[in-house]
Amino acid sequence: MLHAILALLADGQFHSGEKLGEQLGVSRAAVWKALQPLEEQGFPIHRVRGKGYRIPLGAVLLDSAAIQAALPPPLEARWEWHLYQQIDSTNAQAQRLIAGADVRPLVVVAEQQTAGRGRRGRQWSSPFGQNLYMSFVEPVSGGAQGLEGLSLVVGLTLIQTLEACGYQGCRLKWPNDVLLDGAKLAGVLLEISGDLTADAVVVIGVGVNVLMEADSSIDQGWTSLRRSGQKGLLDRNQLIAVFASRLAEALVLFKQAGFEAFQAQWQNCDAWLNADVRVISGSNVLVGRNLGVTAQGSLRLLTDEGELAVSGGEVSLRLGHAS
Ligand code: BTN
Repeated sequence: MLHAILALLADGQFHSGEKLGEQLGVSRAAVWKALQPLEEQGFPIHRVRGKGYRIPLGAVLLDSAAIQAALPPPLEARWEWHLYQQIDSTNAQAQRLIAGADVRPLVVVAEQQTAGRGRRGRQWSSPFGQNLYMSFVEPVSGGAQGLEGLSLVVGLTLIQTLEACGYQGCRLKWPNDVLLDGAKLAGVLLEISGDLTADAVVVIGVGVNVLMEADSSIDQGWTSLRRSGQKGLLDRNQLIAVFASRLAEALVLFKQAGFEAFQAQWQNCDAWLNADVRVISGSNVLVGRNLGVTAQGSLRLLTDEGELAVSGGEVSLRLGHAS
């Protein structure tokens, strides 16, 4: 029922409750009863007396059949898809799905996370039905060493996906934040398990703010695709399919050639190339100029003592030398 109502609203126009009810063979009250919990969970439903309901163009609920139908044929069977209405964290669920079972490529997506994980132990704000929360399980051989740079590749793939979906001006902040209009739009969290010297498995967690308009719990500048005001795609099923197919391509190249194959493209998208920055790791702070990235994905930092290569992990980058 809810999916049917949202399908009728997907044109971005106002529809009266009465008309919607007529089309679905239910009462006006039943329409409201179906939409109300969604609105309470923060889904962007615009309700105007005398006009009815409206949702942003393309703001549909997640649907694994729609995602799979939007994938190019060779990728239809590449992953096992798992969709949840609510989960603690898609990364945690991905790890549970492969624990004690065959490691196989799978994707976990959710409408809501109750304990979304960010980098450096932070929380990732994950309200219902508004954003993308997805985790891709990828078996890898050659040990954890070979995975240096992968999180940067995922960030770059996100930028390329967003451009293909009609969003201009997305930039990268080392190691893997995606910025739009100088604010954080998306983040990447890689978690590696298994034998770190041989066959391992990497869970590639990606969060993208899509429809979110307000969230007072986020303590840093953030934005969403909707907030940007650009006229790109907002359909989360389509966005997932475009990202998944680009990620599959990027993984093939990364496994063959490593980060070096992406180094120049990554640097072209670097928001802070040649800027003065601080690299913060716990209570340690390094200051210097951002010279770009090495062929392994480390940050090239020009300090007073010379050039250093800083590797990712639990560090964060800030603009300017003063704290
Ligand atoms: C960051 O702090 O920038 C990384 C955020 C990563 C969030 C995503 S949302 C899907 C996946 N599941 C999680 O619990 N975290 C990642």
